[in-house]
Amino acid sequence: MIVLKTSKELRLMKEACVIAAGALKAAGEAVEPGVSTAEINRIAHKFITDAGAIPTFKGYNGYPAATCISINDVVIHGIPSSKQIIREGDLVSIDVGATFNGYVGDNAATFAAGDISPEAKRLSDTTRESLYEGIRAAVAGGRIGDIGHAVQSYCESRGFSVVRTFTGHGVGTQMHEDPSVPNFGTPGRGVRLLPGMTIAIEPMINMGTHEVRQMPDGWTIKTKDGKLSAHFEHTIAITADGPVILTQV
Ligand code: MF3
Ligand code: CO
Repeated sequence: MIVLKTSKELRLMKEACVIAAGALKAAGEAVEPGVSTAEINRIAHKFITDAGAIPTFKGYNGYPAATCISINDVVIHGIPSSKQIIREGDLVSIDVGATFNGYVGDNAATFAAGDISPEAKRLSDTTRESLYEGIRAAVAGGRIGDIGHAVQSYCESRGFSVVRTFTGHGVGTQMHEDPSVPNFGTPGRGVRLLPGMTIAIEPMINMGTHEVRQMPDGWTIKTKDGKLSAHFEHTIAITADGPVILTQV
């Protein structure tokens, strides 16, 4: 069931999203060689609780942290650890959610630790840009497939592949609501986009194969071929005046 939000609800949700965005920014600014992923998680967690919000991910299906931190060939759901030290050249994806006013803000971005390879930078830039392509396609009266097609065609034209096994999602009082928001698709197909829909668009883009595998910890998702992956995510609202990015500081 897709829950449409009133403009009042969108205002409340915006506050959660701004906190999530601030946590992502603070965490991203702390990314540098020598820092542990547990330290990055601590910074995001503190930002959220200092704002009076709840770290949405912690405890979600037993997930142990406020953030997912996914380095290099880890696509998503990397678990922060004091034993994992960020190294020069790492591609560090951080995903973080905050619950405030009973609403969830969910966002992610990929950061460079020191100097990264030109290919890694191109992957990260393409993934970020594909998120904005997807957002531009999220207009009332359109279809969910318009979003996926915009992301997919942009990334594939640059030689990268789109993860299929995981998708974006509706978001509101729950982190995961209907509809599912794939990063691939056919224009004009799928659920109709309506004013008041709030969705998380989150391209997960790989350098090599789109195939992924889950690690024995039950969370960590890596590329099957060990090549790099990047991830960007915004929570947006579809309005009569076009898409509005809610997770903007
Ligand atoms: N942003 C991710 C998602 O949209 C975060 C979920 S990770 C979890 O699915 F740890 F909270 F499950
Ligand atoms: Co999400």
